Amino acid sequence: MKNIAVFASGEGSNAQHLINYFKPHPNIRVSLIVTNNPKANVAERAKEAGIPCLMINKMQFLESTQLLDKLHKHKIDLIALAGFLWLLPPLLIKKYPDKILNIHPALLPKYGGKGMYGSAVHKAVIANKEAYSGISIHYVNEKYDEGQLLLQVRCEVGASDTAESLTDKIHQLEHANYAPVIEKLLCG
Ligand code: GRF
Repeated sequence: MKNIAVFASGEGSNAQHLINYFKPHPNIRVSLIVTNNPKANVAERAKEAGIPCLMINKMQFLESTQLLDKLHKHKIDLIALAGFLWLLPPLLIKKYPDKILNIHPALLPKYGGKGMYGSAVHKAVIANKEAYSGISIHYVNEKYDEGQLLLQVRCEVGASDTAESLTDKIHQLEHANYAPVIEKLLCG
């Protein structure tokens, strides 16, 4: 059995889709949720799914001992960031080389980097009158949104699109694509 840890800071709809997709899977399961936000809905989702949830503060996160212990205890093979807002400490990246993925709601390298998350991304895409936006699934390195790309899927941005409607389109792409990419990486 391969074990995934999902790191999320907010709503957790991507985390939920990963949980649901892998629930009946014979070889992969979501075994741990990690969040930095006590108010994050993802904690509730973890509880409902019966998956352990580690709530971590900034100091514990940067120091990483408790986090690494937990990842070790749950025999984590892959970390999937899904709306997780903190930059990962180098120690964690070193311990999981090519085993940490992120999903970003735009076509990187455009609209990435610090502060580019949530509706800020979609507002910028619309303000620049881009014809397309989309999603990027990529490996994580020490810099925000700069690791090697694994998959990009695009969608049209229509003249009537708003940040909200674009959020919905992008979420649909994310929900449909993140789990299969992880599955392929873990099972070939
Ligand atoms: C997603 O759009 C993801 O690309 C970005 O943060 C958002 C998280 O959404 N990194 P949710 O919490 O999974 O609903």
